[in-house]
Amino acid sequence: MISIKTEKEIELMAHAGEVAYQLLNELENIIKPGIKTQDLDDFSDKFIRMKGCTSAELGYEGYPKSICTSVNEEVVHGIPSSRVLKEGDIVSIDLVINYKGYMADTARTYKVGNISKEVNDLLIHTKEALYKGLNEVKEGIKLNEVCKAIESVAIEHGYGVPKELTGHGIGKEMHEDPYIPNYSNEESEKIILKEGMTLAIEPMFSLKGRKVWLLEDEWTIATQDESPVAHFEHTIVVTKDGYKILTGE
Ligand code: MF3
Ligand code: CO
Ligand code: CO
Repeated sequence: MISIKTEKEIELMAHAGEVAYQLLNELENIIKPGIKTQDLDDFSDKFIRMKGCTSAELGYEGYPKSICTSVNEEVVHGIPSSRVLKEGDIVSIDLVINYKGYMADTARTYKVGNISKEVNDLLIHTKEALYKGLNEVKEGIKLNEVCKAIESVAIEHGYGVPKELTGHGIGKEMHEDPYIPNYSNEESEKIILKEGMTLAIEPMFSLKGRKVWLLEDEWTIATQDESPVAHFEHTIVVTKDGYKILTGE
């Protein structure tokens, strides 16, 4: 069942989303060679509390930190630690803010200093895929139109699309129906978007292989061939003739 949110609920999600957007912008300024991923967690945790919100990730199924910091070949759920970021790395920050019981989920991949041209292109194209997917969104379309638009960018550039990781509905819960794969699929053909649905859309592309596995910490998911991965995510609300991004511009 895909829930339709009331105006009031969407307002609360938009507030959570605004805080998430501000935080991702702040992190642009502090991600530099030499910083530890734990420093990013400390900064984020303080920021979230200062804004009167909580991290929905902290404690989620036992997750130990307030944000996810996935470095290079790590796709998602990288745990902040004493790891020091170095020139040429990329780091994906993925966070979910809870404001009065309503959630907004957003992610961005950052460069650490200068990165290679091919990885920089991966970042540009993954972000482009997010907006290409969003561009399809409006009441009455099949969800699969969004999935296909995202996948088309990966196909164009020969990127890998990990099948195990998808976008999702969001609201009172971090993960609600429907699943939103980053590739064309039959399930999404049967789902028609309606005004008031709130969705987290999140392409994740790897430079080469699409196969992923779970690392020993039992959280971090990384590519098996160790190729780098980019991840961009927005929480949106479906409207009559389009969508509104709740986590930024
Ligand atoms: N933010 C992730 C998503 O996009 C979920 C992270 S759950 C955590 O769905 F427990 F790993 F934080
Ligand atoms: Co997320
Ligand atoms: Co998400």
